[in-house]
Amino acid sequence: MVLLVALAATGLLWAGFAPRGTAQDTADANEAVRQGRVLYLQGCSSCHGLQAQGGNQAPSLIGVGSAAVDFQVSTGRMPLAAPGAQAERKDPIYSQTQIDQLAAYIDSLGGGPKKPVITQTEWDDADLAHGGELYRANCAQCHQAVGAGAPLTYGKYAPDLGKATPTQIIEAMRTGPESMPLFGPGQLDEADAVAVAKYVRHVSEAPSAGGDDLGKYGPVPEGLLAWLVGIGGLLAVCLWIGARQKV
Ligand code: HEC
Ligand code: HEC
Repeated sequence: MVLLVALAATGLLWAGFAPRGTAQDTADANEAVRQGRVLYLQGCSSCHGLQAQGGNQAPSLIGVGSAAVDFQVSTGRMPLAAPGAQAERKDPIYSQTQIDQLAAYIDSLGGGPKKPVITQTEWDDADLAHGGELYRANCAQCHQAVGAGAPLTYGKYAPDLGKATPTQIIEAMRTGPESMPLFGPGQLDEADAVAVAKYVRHVSEAPSAGGDDLGKYGPVPEGLLAWLVGIGGLLAVCLWIGARQKV
C-alpha cells in the first residue's frame, strides 16, 4: 500500500514538474546539428578529422565554439584553400544558414565561445571614445592606428579591418585566430567589446576630411609623397630657372 502511494505520488509529481520542452524546438535544433554534420563531413573532415578530433593537417575543433566557426567560415578563411603562413580572408563559400548549421554541429561537440549577438540598443549605447582608447591599447600595435593592417614576422600579417563586420570583430577578439591573442570577457567585457567593434567600423567608414587618405598608412607615405612631389617640384623649378639663364 505504502509502495503504491509512493509510486502514484512520484508519478503525479513528475507529471506536474517535468520539463515541457516543445517538440518543435528540439526538432529544429537537432535538424541544424544534423545538417551541420553532413556539411562538416563533406567540407571539413578531410583536414579536421571525421570526429572533429583534428589530425596532422589541422587542429581539433572540439570545444572551439560557434564563434570560432562563424568567424572562420564567414570570413572565407575556412575551408582552407592552400596551406600557407596564414589563412586569408576570401568570399565565403557557405550561406549564413549553412554556417549556422556548421556552428551548431561544432557547438554540440562541446562548449566554447558562442557567436555574439549585438542588439541595436547595445550598438547605439556603445561608447565610441572608450572603444578608441581600448583599440589603441590592445589592437593598434598589430592592426595599426586606424585598422589598415600591418605585417608581422614569418610572412604573417595583421589584416586590414575594413571588411570585418561587427560580429566578426567580436568573434576575432573572443577566439584569437592564429597569431592574434585572445581577449576574453575578463579583459574586455561585453560593452567594451561592442565599443571596440564600433570604433573599428567608425575609422574604416569615416570620410577623409583632408583629401586622399593614401591608404591611411600615416606619416610614412604622406612624407614620401611630400618629398617626391614637393621637393621634386622645387628641384624641377630650380633646374628650369637655371636652364633659362644660360640662354
Ligand atoms: C585544407 C585543410 C582544411 C580544411 C578543408 C578545413 N580546415 Fe579548418 N583549419 C585548418 C588549419 C590548418 C587550421 C589552423 C590554422 C588556422 O587557424 O588558420 C584550421 C583552423 C580552423 C578553425 C579555428 C580553430 C581554433 O582553434 O580557433 C576552425 C573553427 C575551423 N578550422 C573550421 C573549419 C570548418 C568549419 C571547415 C569546413 C567548412 C574547415 N575548417 C575546413 C585546415 C582546414
Ligand atoms: C599580436 C597581433 C594582434 C593583436 C594585438 C590583435 N590582432 Fe587582430 N589579428 C591578428 C592576426 C595575425 C589576424 C589574422 C588571423 C587569421 O588570419 O587567422 C587578425 C585578425 C583580426 C580580424 C579579422 C579581420 C578580417 O578581415 O577577417 C579582426 C576583426 C581583428 N583581428 C580584430 C582585432 C581587435 C579588435 C584587436 C584588439 C582587441 C586585435 N585584433 C588585436 C593580429 C593581432
